[in-house]
Amino acid sequence: MFPAFDGNDFVYLNSGGSGPPSHETISAMRAADDLFFGSIYREGIGLFVRQAEANARAREAAARLVGAESNDVALTQNTTHGMNLGYYAIDWKPGDAVVSTTTEHPGCLVPIHALKRRFGVETTLVAPPVTPEKIAAALTPRTRLISLSHVDWTTGEVLPLTEICTLARERGVLTLVDGAQSVGNIPVNIPATGADMYAFTGHKWVLGPEGIGAFHVRPGLPAHSPNVGYASVSEATPFDINGDYDLRPDARRFEASTVSPTLAAGFAAAADAAHERGEEGFAEIRRRADLLMDLISELPRITIRSPRPAQSGLVSFEIEGVVAKKAVERLLEQRFVVRFIPDPNPYVRISTHLFNTEEELEALARAVAEL
Ligand SMILES: Cc1ncc(COP(=O)(O)O)c(C=O)c1O
Repeated sequence: MFPAFDGNDFVYLNSGGSGPPSHETISAMRAADDLFFGSIYREGIGLFVRQAEANARAREAAARLVGAESNDVALTQNTTHGMNLGYYAIDWKPGDAVVSTTTEHPGCLVPIHALKRRFGVETTLVAPPVTPEKIAAALTPRTRLISLSHVDWTTGEVLPLTEICTLARERGVLTLVDGAQSVGNIPVNIPATGADMYAFTGHKWVLGPEGIGAFHVRPGLPAHSPNVGYASVSEATPFDINGDYDLRPDARRFEASTVSPTLAAGFAAAADAAHERGEEGFAEIRRRADLLMDLISELPRITIRSPRPAQSGLVSFEIEGVVAKKAVERLLEQRFVVRFIPDPNPYVRISTHLFNTEEELEALARAVAEL
């Protein structure tokens, strides 16, 4: 089902880093390549019509996967791109503040640091466990944004997003969510969370190609797009060189220009497949994580850092006396592809996707026992 695994006995357990595309997804990309690098050049402006169709299919598939309407998502390059769009949708003033958490990925934190350097934006980081009460306590009258993950990349914990978005709305604070580890891993219905802006990618749990993701913007959100071009212009008002036209009112005002139709086709195919796997697929991902935690929790020297029962397909642990980076290197020598989380949370992290079998997880536990 996956070219990455054809003809080798590697055990791939890092879909949270990058998920391998299936043969079907790759076929969809090859078909797009054949068309868009070939006969399309004989179709005149048909080229642009077909590009628009490919983008529309990607938006539709991505939106369906997260319970949203297709025009409420903009195509992006990845999660971090979406996070940047969200941060720069706000007209920051010195002394404005952001609340985030201590375990966020650099994709969430580096843009905050840039806002601090450039605009003097203050940051308060809440330490886990992240609760609505702790977030509420961190808010000040100057807080304009809460930015945090839906699923913590260091442990796989699902944050209480709906409660946090509700309290943010009550306090007049915007929310920006890093969905890198959530979409394709756990059931996600973005409108139901109440998040104002939500960024995710196609290349991790969705098992799509690298280089394409999506950014959901709550309908009616009064936020400026920092990324505009021909794709942002409303279909209702023609472009005018003096600027006498409207931008699209929906999330697509955050899309500026040309998108790779090959990536769009791969993203659409992968998001469709993830949608078809449905609730049952998400339950199976968690079941695998639980199985792995059951297996390794019996081993001496192991401290599991993920919540039990599993909340997602991420399982993190520490091995007494073995540095996480070293453990990952030694596991790779035995053909287990896993990753480590850097300091200050130096854990071995396993991603248990649907293609990972019980036998693979049992073999991994045996290998971990020998480290
Ligand atoms: C929580 C989190 N945010 C952001 C990223 C970066 O994702 P992307 O490559 O889609 O920007 C990752 C993964 O690498 C992540 O785990």
